[in-house]
Amino acid sequence: MHPRLTVVSHPLVQHKLTLMRRRETSTGEFRRLAREVALLMAYEVTRDLRLEQVPVETPLEPMMAPALAGKKLCIVSILRAGAGLAEGMLDLVPSARVGHIGLYRDPATLVPVEYYLKLPEDVAERPVILVDPMLATGHSAAAAVGRLKMAGCQDLRFACLLAAPEGLEVLAEAHPDVEVFTCAVDRELDEHAYIRPGLGDAGDRLFGTK
Ligand code: URA
Repeated sequence: MHPRLTVVSHPLVQHKLTLMRRRETSTGEFRRLAREVALLMAYEVTRDLRLEQVPVETPLEPMMAPALAGKKLCIVSILRAGAGLAEGMLDLVPSARVGHIGLYRDPATLVPVEYYLKLPEDVAERPVILVDPMLATGHSAAAAVGRLKMAGCQDLRFACLLAAPEGLEVLAEAHPDVEVFTCAVDRELDEHAYIRPGLGDAGDRLFGTK
């Protein structure tokens, strides 16, 4: 499926994801759950960040203690639904920088076209977490990863709530080096590129649009 796939199986994540899948879950509740799940995912996605020993003074004595090494994380959200996950990750890593990438699919060629990009100037020197709730066809995620690599990013991870096997294949083919984190791998994509059983349109459910 993908050589570097982690399914975040923590019971709290799984329970909250089930609540998000329910048709009757309200917009407000869905948004709150997305934020909570993203925070819990961030714990897993950042597990291998580098540490260095720094001097600190406790109230009792000086010591060397671990602290995050290097430049601060950058969370890049794929517009628009990625914003729902970025918020939760920022709850856990409030000093992270934030980038945005907007892509739409050209109706004639079906190729993702970039319409917006704003990244920190020094994004190439930062660990980057790219977020989008649904890895469906995988084309947007693959294009966004490609764009971040063009910007020089080397330490890249992708996080989503749900993945379709088809999307994982596309991402594995294009970017086998990028670690992928998801809460579940669902059965399939339908003819409208919705993930089944899925949770519906993540953007609509987050923002109350239809
Ligand atoms: N995007 C969504 O929001 N939902 C899907 O099921 C697939 C893509």
